[in-house]
Amino acid sequence: MTNNNHKYLSVRVILKNTKLCRELFRKLKFLFSIKNSLHSSAKFTRIDGVLYHNSTRQFCLVLATITIFFSCSSGPQVNRGVIAEKGMVVSARAEASRIGTEILKKGGNAFDAMMATELALAVAYPYAGNIGGGGFMVYRKSNGDIGALDYREKAPLAATRDMYLDNDGNIIPKKSTVGAHAVGIPGTIAGIFEAHKKLGSLSIQEIFEPVIELAKKGVVVTQKQERRIKAFQKSFLAANKDSILLTKNWKENDTIKYSALAHTLERISKNGRDEFYKGETAKKIVEFIQENGGIITLEDLGKYKAKWRGPIAFQYDDLKIISMPPPSSGGICLAQIMNGIEPYNLHEFGHNSVKAIQVIVEAERRAYADRSFYLGDPDFVNIPVDTLISKNYKKRRMDNFSFEKPTLSKDLQHGNIEMFESNETTHYSIVDQFGNAVSVTTTLNSGYGSKLYSNELGFFFNNEMDDFSSKPGVPNVYGLVGTKANEIAPEKRMLSSMTPTIVEKDGKLYMVVGTPGGSTIITSVLQTILNVHEFQMGMQEAVNQPRFHHQWLPDVVRIEPNRFDEETKKQLEKIGYKLYERNSSVIGKVDAILVLEDGRYEGGADPRGNDTAVGF
Ligand code: GLY
Repeated sequence: MTNNNHKYLSVRVILKNTKLCRELFRKLKFLFSIKNSLHSSAKFTRIDGVLYHNSTRQFCLVLATITIFFSCSSGPQVNRGVIAEKGMVVSARAEASRIGTEILKKGGNAFDAMMATELALAVAYPYAGNIGGGGFMVYRKSNGDIGALDYREKAPLAATRDMYLDNDGNIIPKKSTVGAHAVGIPGTIAGIFEAHKKLGSLSIQEIFEPVIELAKKGVVVTQKQERRIKAFQKSFLAANKDSILLTKNWKENDTIKYSALAHTLERISKNGRDEFYKGETAKKIVEFIQENGGIITLEDLGKYKAKWRGPIAFQYDDLKIISMPPPSSGGICLAQIMNGIEPYNLHEFGHNSVKAIQVIVEAERRAYADRSFYLGDPDFVNIPVDTLISKNYKKRRMDNFSFEKPTLSKDLQHGNIEMFESNETTHYSIVDQFGNAVSVTTTLNSGYGSKLYSNELGFFFNNEMDDFSSKPGVPNVYGLVGTKANEIAPEKRMLSSMTPTIVEKDGKLYMVVGTPGGSTIITSVLQTILNVHEFQMGMQEAVNQPRFHHQWLPDVVRIEPNRFDEETKKQLEKIGYKLYERNSSVIGKVDAILVLEDGRYEGGADPRGNDTAVGF
């Protein structure tokens, strides 16, 4: 892409500062890319999903020129996603987005919809939606008040620093990832009740009712879900004493009824939060975990509390970014990366161009190196938050960056690293008809968490203990290396990468954004914001774009398979970057909402999953 830069340098100089002209610039660039691809020897060329025969190339070029001329004269043309006027929910499953939206239509607010959507995901998306896990919420009320809720899991009272090490000090394989030993004290039920107590408006029963109905009526299996369930069935059988609901031979279009979960939800709806932490459900949880060799007790559940935290807020150009503070690393890392790239004109470099990728990768490398050393549960460790997110600090950190060659991660800090594993979590974004916004990321950690499933209670338990650093310098399932700040201690919360984020522009709500993806969460949120702000994309278009990721260690740039052009990859490799392009994995699955200039909402639901935006 950068090869084309000289061709429109003069246009760029004149035009770069107005929004309309920035759009023209993007379109001219697109035009040159069409032209280049049409000059290739391929017989057919795919442009925006349409196959063009090369014999039509001159015609296409003229047509594209005319289209651009007229579309620029009437304002930017962007491929939009679902548009709504009053409210919207974007989540990993249509059933959950619909239930959340129905709550809004009933007169509920974004916090009522949060409770309903979270629970509906626990039914319709057991891969990551949960009541056996935890999460984080960032909110912005219509009056501009902001806040963050931490309902992250905690280590049990009997947890010890070396609980996943053998007598020789080596990590015991799978102990922190599979089965009852991997489970942290779940926070989801405490979180949604806490949010509701402070900010909700409908009754608990009104919110639970459609979710219980969904669990009883059942959820239709999608093609992606059929594949996923099949892929995990061996692990389910290995982690559980008996077969479980999801070890049946489910096929696309079958309906899975979640009757046991419906009963658990009915009890919680009737008896409230304490049903899960002190009541019959709590007793069943403890019995089940201990039967399977785990260490969670009734005292652990009884002591669990969700916590309100002050969000991380910082400026990037004319945007104010509001994100999750520790025990998530999300907000701090996002601030560090954005501070690192702010002085560079990414827009001029071009979307996913070699130079833009270099700047972002080098800022990411430095932020993740700091993450590993400084970040942990703020109730246990002192974190120099103000310094880490200050513009000066990041400027100093970027001082040794050069476009000539990569900074090697080993020169920033040591660590012996293996490769990435797959990972899952889920995110949803909500705006309501009153102007409140909610950004929530919730997780069981890996797909289906610890794979431990209670047939009686109807849900999976998390394997969040693996987000602690079991042994300094040894990577967890995301390849992330930790140090003392994130070592295990009783009642401590494990460090997270979840980055539920809200963006303001000119003091008004602008974007609600977040994603699953373990360590790639932060960089996926970053690129989605940049796609809108730097490259003038609409919300859906921004979500659809190919993503890349660097996390300090391992020292590779991970890129989505088959989505980056060969020339860009070649140039990056020539400069010295190691690319990692694995065929089976996507980076992030972003669900986001953009406030358009006319005040309507545009949803961006990630096509990488079954994600769906529903609005009204
Ligand atoms: N379990 C993934 C995260 O919290 O980052």
